[in-house]
Amino acid sequence: MISTSVHVEHVRIPGQQDIAGQVFPLVLRCTTISPAWDAIDAWIGTHRDELSQQASEYGAILFRDFPLTTPEDFDAFIAAFEFENFPYEESLSNAVRVNKTPRVFTANEAPADVKIFLHHEMAQTPIYPSKLMFFCEQPAEIGGATPLCRSDLLWEKLAEKYPEFAANCREKGLKYSNVMPPENDPASGMGRSWKSTLRAETKSDAERRLGNIGYSWEWEDGDCLRATTPVLPAVYRLPDGRETFFNQLIAAHQGWKDLRNDPSRSITFGDGTFLDDEAVRYAAQIGDELSYPVPWQRGDVALIDNFVTMHGRQVFTGTRKVLASLIK
Ligand code: FE2
Repeated sequence: MISTSVHVEHVRIPGQQDIAGQVFPLVLRCTTISPAWDAIDAWIGTHRDELSQQASEYGAILFRDFPLTTPEDFDAFIAAFEFENFPYEESLSNAVRVNKTPRVFTANEAPADVKIFLHHEMAQTPIYPSKLMFFCEQPAEIGGATPLCRSDLLWEKLAEKYPEFAANCREKGLKYSNVMPPENDPASGMGRSWKSTLRAETKSDAERRLGNIGYSWEWEDGDCLRATTPVLPAVYRLPDGRETFFNQLIAAHQGWKDLRNDPSRSITFGDGTFLDDEAVRYAAQIGDELSYPVPWQRGDVALIDNFVTMHGRQVFTGTRKVLASLIK
């Protein structure tokens, strides 16, 4: 029988972290059997502001046992929040993705054996989403968890151990450089073509777009395009005063590697000086130590505050269908 009301409980799940008396992530479980869609819609409507606030305070919320099975269900779940969509085609993301609905797309088409390192979504570009949502349509057979890491904690530890590096991050900011192919290369975690990334048909369209957003560029063999960002911040101050390591330093330094890209050329401080390798390795190490790998179950949804929490992807075997949506 379909229920016209919804009951949601805070629950604990194995491995969930306690950070200064606060759980991470917050887990909300729907305990109503077969709730009507209207009831879910009404529940989200009533709690919209509170949920948005909790996502920022806790860093992430995992919604479990809500009756979602298809990309369309996920789309409707997001729509109930009335968040403003951040369309993939407008983004400068370097991942190859496939849209399922106007606001829902595959998280990354990169092969199963490619690890995606911790990052804040699109922090390597001047335009980034404030939040993102993931939906597990089908968990992998083995692996494929999405590690989540509270970036304010990472920053605290990093700044304590490497104060000079932290001062450079704050004062100089970062510049990223990557090489894009002319056509999408789904074999790479960063294989999105310059034509798609820049919504450009020709080289001169691409150059115009890059100029408008303050990038510099060089053309390389095979019509590949090396694009270098303007100086972007490495640290973000949240409205409540917390600071986060809001950048793509770990991912760029460790993972921006494919046939076209060499991680040693992918990132520098804003003045062009090189990063201290030891501090970067430490950032990656504490990122791993602080991560909570979300053990996906079918139908799970995660709401992540992009300014507070980093995410990545573990390697996996079998078919894994995790969809994503970005919020302005
Ligand atoms: Fe991402």
